Amino acid sequence: MNDLAGKHILLGLTGGVACYKAAELCRAFVKEGATVQVVMTEAACQFITPVTMQALSGRPVYVSQWDAREPNNMPHINLTRGADAIVLAPCSADFIARLVQGRSDELLSLLCLARPMGSVPLLVAPAMNREMWAHPATQRNLAQLAADGATVLGVGSGFQACGETGDGRMLEPDQLLHDVIAQFQPRSLGGQRVLVTAGPTFEAIDPIRGITNHSSGKMGFAIARAAHEAGAEVTLVAGPVSLPTPRGVKRVDVQSARDMLAACTRLAEGADVFVATAAVADWRPATASEQKIKKDGSGQAPVIAFAENPDILATLAQGERAKSGDLFCVGFAAESHDLANHARAKRERKGIPLLVGNIGPLAFGQDDNALLLVDAHGERELPRAPKLDLARQLVREIAHRLPRNGSTS
Ligand code: C5P
Repeated sequence: MNDLAGKHILLGLTGGVACYKAAELCRAFVKEGATVQVVMTEAACQFITPVTMQALSGRPVYVSQWDAREPNNMPHINLTRGADAIVLAPCSADFIARLVQGRSDELLSLLCLARPMGSVPLLVAPAMNREMWAHPATQRNLAQLAADGATVLGVGSGFQACGETGDGRMLEPDQLLHDVIAQFQPRSLGGQRVLVTAGPTFEAIDPIRGITNHSSGKMGFAIARAAHEAGAEVTLVAGPVSLPTPRGVKRVDVQSARDMLAACTRLAEGADVFVATAAVADWRPATASEQKIKKDGSGQAPVIAFAENPDILATLAQGERAKSGDLFCVGFAAESHDLANHARAKRERKGIPLLVGNIGPLAFGQDDNALLLVDAHGERELPRAPKLDLARQLVREIAHRLPRNGSTS
């Protein structure tokens, strides 16, 4: 995908071992379609050379405020005016302190001070030893930096180059890339709490076998990611799938439809939006054998009786919170034909304000999909596109329909 197409990112490197990760981050920005201008402090040049960063960004690196390549000799102005964001990765403890003080005696701090605050967000990816990270001075500075309008992206935890283990590692390039992409999405669900179900369920026959389906979970995971990007607090209840948890999303793994219902009933108490993307099994074996069912040599197959599973979406949609308008419920319908009619009927039957239809065989396991949105006013098609694109569009459609959504899109 080209999630950063048309964006110009100023990537600032300060002195820290994590500079080696900045090389990969630069490459990731370029791969997503961004143009990247690298600026390095003198200390950063001790860890990685401007040559590497120039090769990866395709542009000469700036290291000095006296750089005579700029006709007006004002790189701090020229470099910031065309930028869509400034990303400092790694940002050292010293550089954080400098930003807080508004220091401007070298190019990178100077251009951070000179940036137009209303249009050029400053994203900071700290990197330091765990004691430096925990020090009250650093924590005080970070709080002040956030209060001054910067976005502090947090740190990872684990083994550090100094040999110690703890908080303070710079986030990985893929995590930073995700956060920068999210920065450019509209905050249409700011302050909302969103609960999403995804994937198949697994209904046990015995300890070895069970009934499941081909749902990959991709659509639900994309919706969880898109909702988080849009500023929501997101919980994802996932059936058995092997997808990575979207960044910033809380995940609860379940197996059966009844597990999923129990988790959703509990979590819906603290949710404003419920999006039921999961392909829940309609039936389960009425009783799951505690031991493996063995062939008995008779040539007779075992007879398995089925019981109908609870309808999670309908249950929540008929609950008090949904009825009083506190929980906005969205359902999915996977059909094989006559999508609009089936989707309209399903919306009525489930008693939900918005139903999203798709053609099952063209959606399951695919990276792209096409959606049909059905609400009380009619239908709207979201043409075939990558699932993350569709998820972002759907999130905006949901946001517009929320009764008390005070956020802007
Ligand atoms: O009735 P059908 O399974 O086609 O409905 C699909 C919608 O209902 C999806 O949103 C799905 O997640 C939800 N569903 C559910 N619990 C079930 C069956 C479906 O929440 N037992």
